[in-house]
Amino acid sequence: MNLLAFLEQKVTAALVAAGAPDGTPALVRVSGHARHGDYQANGVMSVARSLGKNPREMAQRVTELLDLSDVVEKTEVAGPGFINFFLKTQWLTQQLGQYIHDDRLGVPLVDKKQTVVVDLSSPNVAKEMHVAHLRSTVIGDAVARTLEFLGHKVIRANHIGDWGTQFGMLIARMEDLEAEQQVDVMDVGLANLEEFYRQAKQEYDSDPAFSERARDYVVKLQGGDDWCREQWQKLVQVTMKQNLHLYERLNVKITDKDTMGESMYNPMLPSLVADLKRKKLAVEDQGAVVVHLDEFRNKDGDPMGVIVQKRDGGFLYTTTDIACARYRVESLEADRVLYYVDARQSDHLKQAWFIARKAGYIPAQVSFEHHTFGMMLGQDNRPFRTRAGGVVKLAALLDEARSRATELVRSRDGDLSEQREEELVRALSTGAIKYADLSKNRTSDYVFDWDSMLSFEGNTAPYMMYAFTRVQSIFRKAGVDANGLSGALNLTEPEERGLAICLLRMTEVLDTVARDGTPHFLCGWLFDLAGCFMKFYESCPVTQSQVDPEVRQSRLHLCAMTARALRLGLECLGMDVVEYM
Ligand code: ARG
Repeated sequence: MNLLAFLEQKVTAALVAAGAPDGTPALVRVSGHARHGDYQANGVMSVARSLGKNPREMAQRVTELLDLSDVVEKTEVAGPGFINFFLKTQWLTQQLGQYIHDDRLGVPLVDKKQTVVVDLSSPNVAKEMHVAHLRSTVIGDAVARTLEFLGHKVIRANHIGDWGTQFGMLIARMEDLEAEQQVDVMDVGLANLEEFYRQAKQEYDSDPAFSERARDYVVKLQGGDDWCREQWQKLVQVTMKQNLHLYERLNVKITDKDTMGESMYNPMLPSLVADLKRKKLAVEDQGAVVVHLDEFRNKDGDPMGVIVQKRDGGFLYTTTDIACARYRVESLEADRVLYYVDARQSDHLKQAWFIARKAGYIPAQVSFEHHTFGMMLGQDNRPFRTRAGGVVKLAALLDEARSRATELVRSRDGDLSEQREEELVRALSTGAIKYADLSKNRTSDYVFDWDSMLSFEGNTAPYMMYAFTRVQSIFRKAGVDANGLSGALNLTEPEERGLAICLLRMTEVLDTVARDGTPHFLCGWLFDLAGCFMKFYESCPVTQSQVDPEVRQSRLHLCAMTARALRLGLECLGMDVVEYM
């Protein structure tokens, strides 16, 4: 168990023994300042208030009931009823000392391995990936990596929009395009998907012959017509080829086999609707099939009617998500399903899951979680768009990041070989975009700003990458192999202690990210870690000749563990590190 969880459990037990209700949260946190100890518990005040007790007296009583003598040097009650814990240096030394040769730095594999489905990225066919898909891709992948690192089985599900009536007009447009230009789209691709989609829509709206053909193709496609299926497949493949290339550039682990788009669930929909009817959840309503939900209200305050099948027999986005939820439980055997989807789809997902639970497709113990995210904004605090007001294409964003990163690298006198420069530019350009996104609380909007994301100051990709190379360079200069260190760890200086506590928090931080799907927590910790390291390195000489050999070995251990922690943490975020900068 991580230290935070351990303290939380102990303090809660003591709170209960002091008269608080079962399970009262102890609210243990890392202290913001050394004078308040290393950790603090803030839960006493509110429970004391609700019990009509004096908070300081109750806090005092809790400290008397606590037995933490192995771990804690001193416990004190402060202010209106905070409890501060000062950890034993000897205990810290012994804890961290266990991990000096551990690749995982003491982060255990979970006892209860879960199957976690992560719904991420999910762009639409014949459209460009836009900024909401970028956030879903990058955040979803970081959480997926963290869960994998902790030992869970992760299934990345790329729920692409590859089905629907729009395919009629898209097939018709592609047919015309291929005839006009005498090409096969499979060979030449569709360089400008937005433009292609726009043209299809325009012709559909203005040309009756075209729209008739398009409608005919929809019927044929749904009926399984070979040619229409082939044309549709082509569109999916051409789009996904571009997207897979973007995933690679973004260094996210999403491959072809993770594609589980809407079309995959289509064959399951008729029997699903039949089942909902049989269970008396869905009823015929003016020719359509509707689920009435008392628990949700529409604008007029009436029970919400969710249509699962239209009058013309067609199914809807919600029907698909009900089938998808069922599939994830029954076929993928998910214990947990995390959806990285735009906040605006929250009602939609809630309704789909509610129906799926009512129908018995999702058992109570399986959790479905919508991990929403805020919007990416431009400098003007409005949704991020191009100057012309169009969607910002991910490919263009990555190109710009590349040219800015190249400029940045060339402006420094790093004297790097061509190959190292290329590595650095690659890592910096995708890293900057990803880290800027990951380091913000995912639920809030944030302003996309090139200058701050490429700055070497603050909680940024360049700063973190630089911190890593700086530790690596200590070993290079000293001519020591970080993996072949001997000697023991011995913490004496406050800065060594501070760094040790930070290193020991890694499990706690990763557990939080895995539980809440909040990579910004990991970024915040990495930033603290880099800060603790800088403080340590400024006040505790490592390689200088006057340093006692044993002290030097102990400090080299701290350096090696810091480098390992930075690398592991950045890897969980999907960030590359480089050795030279
Ligand atoms: N394709 C959808 C969009 O672009 C996102 C799909 C999210 N996942 C889901 N299971 N509905 O908005």
